[in-house]
Amino acid sequence: MAQQQLAELRHARTGIELRPGLDGVPATQSAICDIDGEQGLLTYRGYPVSELAANSSFLETAYLLIWGELPTRDQLTAFEQEVQMHRRMSFRVRDMMKCFPATGHPMDALQSSAASLGLFYSRRAIDDPQYIYDAVVRLIAKIPTMVAAFQLIRKGQDPIQPRDDLAYSANFLYMLTEREPDPLAARIFDRCLILHAEHSLNASTFSARVTASTLTDPYAVVASAVGTLAGPLHGGANEDVLTMLEQIGSSENAEAYLDEAMTEKRKIMGFGHREYRVKDPRAVILQSLAEEMFARFGHDHLYDVARGLELAAESRLGAKGIFPNVDFYSGLVYRKLGIPRDLFTPVFAISRVAGWLAHWREQLGANRIFRPSQIYSGSGPRAWTPIHERSPASAA
Ligand code: CMC
Repeated sequence: MAQQQLAELRHARTGIELRPGLDGVPATQSAICDIDGEQGLLTYRGYPVSELAANSSFLETAYLLIWGELPTRDQLTAFEQEVQMHRRMSFRVRDMMKCFPATGHPMDALQSSAASLGLFYSRRAIDDPQYIYDAVVRLIAKIPTMVAAFQLIRKGQDPIQPRDDLAYSANFLYMLTEREPDPLAARIFDRCLILHAEHSLNASTFSARVTASTLTDPYAVVASAVGTLAGPLHGGANEDVLTMLEQIGSSENAEAYLDEAMTEKRKIMGFGHREYRVKDPRAVILQSLAEEMFARFGHDHLYDVARGLELAAESRLGAKGIFPNVDFYSGLVYRKLGIPRDLFTPVFAISRVAGWLAHWREQLGANRIFRPSQIYSGSGPRAWTPIHERSPASAA
């Protein structure tokens, strides 16, 4: 009763109601990305993501997100060259990665490696535009190298060096698979990166902004965001989608799977979104990219399972506004590209670093440290109990 009164007192004092998950609560102002969840529209700096995916490159889109405008030819060339020059990573980072357990998850490896960059470039000169530019370039350049390096290191091999004659996405696929990718595969991968680059104040971006608001270095900002992205309710769902599709096995089993999951109140991975009440526009494009991949490189039977599940879900979940999200079809594209399943979320991070860095810059431009309040629901004031007077029940 006392606890309840305390909670109500605090609630009455601020006049603000607790909204679990901050659902619908604006926590910042941002000019980076806009989502119309009713219409299924997503824009980066005002440009529809569908147009960017069709016409832009990932590095051009990253430039747009971070600096606010599409680059001129000269600006883009300079940015591409800077990124290319910073792709290599220090032998010290490589050697550190060799000490990581091969069985560890690549997202944990990425979080640690990204954080380690702060040891090398930790001036924290966040008032200096050159420092900001250099940090942006380094993070965009080195994160793919780190993801590919861990893949080879955990197989007992040395990482391979980036190739200067290959563009950003082709070079990543080369460092990962040790083979120069087909140009169509590289272009489709680049389009996937564009689609994942930014999505307003999602959990990892919020995490990035909270960390940025303390004025710490950008490597800590990105490392905290990587840790947040790793969870299965966020970026980690793309791995679980493939596992689920394999469990279902064939499109004929989709209805029974859904019925059982709904009876057991299990969530369907790759479905639902806090913002969208229709099919995620990125899922629409990723589905067409998957079809393009299959037309060129051979079909994947899991795509039929996915289509069966989507159709069966329409009548069961559609009325609640639950449709495929970005993670539903992305794994099928990555699988066809030869990317191992536990690298799907690190690949998401390679792309989302552009959005995190855009939010880092924006946060620094009008910073106030994040410090929300809480509604306390714990015990009221209590007298100290000496240890010899405590019973297991009182400890529980
Ligand atoms: N399958 C079945 N029911 C669902 C699902 C789902 N995937 N998602 C939401 N619901 C239901 C949920 O059971 C609840 O129903 P009720 O009101 O009857 O209890 C209602 O919809 C609201 O769900 P919620 O969990 O409160 O919604 P949220 O906005 O907090 O969660 C979400 C959004 C994405 C975490 C959630 O939809 C989910 O867990 N989806 C599965 C995991 C997934 O695919 N995550 C990737 C998200 S998109 C990429 C990214 O952001 O990284």
